[in-house]
Amino acid sequence: MQRTKSEELYKKALDLFPGGVNSPVRAFKSVFGTPLFIDRGEGAYIWDVDDNKYLDFCCSWGPLILGHKHPKVIAAIEESVHKGTTFGAPCKYGIDLAEQIIGNNRFIEKMRFVSSGTEAVMSAVRLARGVTGKTKVIKFDGCYHGHVDHLMVKAGSGLVTFGVSSSAGVPDAFAKETIVVPLNDQAAVEEAFEKHGDDIACIILEPIPANNGLLLQDKSYLQFLKDICKKNDALLIFDEVISGFRIQFDGAAGYYDVAPDILTYGKVVGGGMPVGAFGASKEIMSHVAPDGPVYQAGTLSANPVAMAAGAAQIRECLTEGFYENLNAKTKNFTDGINAFCEKESYPIRFNQMGSIFWMAFSTDKITKADQIDGSKMEYYKEIHKQLLNRKIYFAPSGYEVGFVSQAHTAGDLEMASQAIFDSIKIAFDTVKA
Ligand SMILES: Cc1ncc(COP(=O)(O)O)c(C=O)c1O
Repeated sequence: MQRTKSEELYKKALDLFPGGVNSPVRAFKSVFGTPLFIDRGEGAYIWDVDDNKYLDFCCSWGPLILGHKHPKVIAAIEESVHKGTTFGAPCKYGIDLAEQIIGNNRFIEKMRFVSSGTEAVMSAVRLARGVTGKTKVIKFDGCYHGHVDHLMVKAGSGLVTFGVSSSAGVPDAFAKETIVVPLNDQAAVEEAFEKHGDDIACIILEPIPANNGLLLQDKSYLQFLKDICKKNDALLIFDEVISGFRIQFDGAAGYYDVAPDILTYGKVVGGGMPVGAFGASKEIMSHVAPDGPVYQAGTLSANPVAMAAGAAQIRECLTEGFYENLNAKTKNFTDGINAFCEKESYPIRFNQMGSIFWMAFSTDKITKADQIDGSKMEYYKEIHKQLLNRKIYFAPSGYEVGFVSQAHTAGDLEMASQAIFDSIKIAFDTVKA
């Protein structure tokens, strides 16, 4: 398969962008080869600039729950774009999107649109601090919340630690405002509250952690987090940038029936355009400017094109049976792969939740980041290469999850399964990890 045009563009890109990319994982540093430059997409497929066609399981890292170029999303974008791209003033499409969301989600009464998941999280944490008057944040090892300064932190040594900056440029003073604890560990959270309870503004987590593998938590754990926040006058933030509108319309909060105080959204909510959002009760949102003292603003926030795209996509998600079909199709896909791995004794299990899946190199239930054996990513590298050669596009890192969209057909998934079986077999025959 020729990828010469992608390779040529990548050479140019290396002179223009750090690592040749505008977001680091795209650089293919964890897999073989160089990034594909994508020319176009339709339904479940993308085409690179060399005109190779791939079945896409990355789906732009989650936003494209309807697949590429859904006719209704494109029509909505066209309708709005012909009237102008941005006015920096309210528009009707934002009302449409917010009404659909708030009308079908009992966890939020008011919301604010921003332009990315990172911005949503940054604003949500500021809001929690503004409401509580406290400063410290508990975050979990293995959860990602965008590139917000005080959340670009990793655990130090020990169970309950102040964060150590995981990026140059984040002052220690910021990292020290964040306490990092392991997932699925009640004692660690209790210890954090015993030591710092008076200062803790909020706990933030991905209720379905999907940025470092898929580390599924129990409902009882999420409820415990809710209870301990309540007891300590701290707020619980569910970062549903991935899980929101993906698992079911009201996301992980609805799925587990655990009510956080603040929710953040991104990805699916924008229909493939740059949109993030945060929401909460009317009381909590009354602290946001201009109603309250927590400042938050954005030149392109809720611009009409993005709002129109989001509203069109969200409307499709609300159609009868949408999630049942999508989730059942995904489960059927991963069940088939798992049956194959079990029968052939490959130590791989595809973890699945809704239309999200992750290839775990273990047959154990994995709930914490430190249970992932990094050396096994050598298998992923080979599997990724083999899949690309079979025209299946998986994310270029074994820590990333995959997504199934409404556009993936049973036939597509059957074809992908066969390619996955072949790729796993080759990887385990050739790689020593
Ligand atoms: C859970 C979560 N929060 C926040 C973000 C940041 O969103 P964005 O990349 O839109 O800034 C991401 C991105 O992947 C995410 O998965």
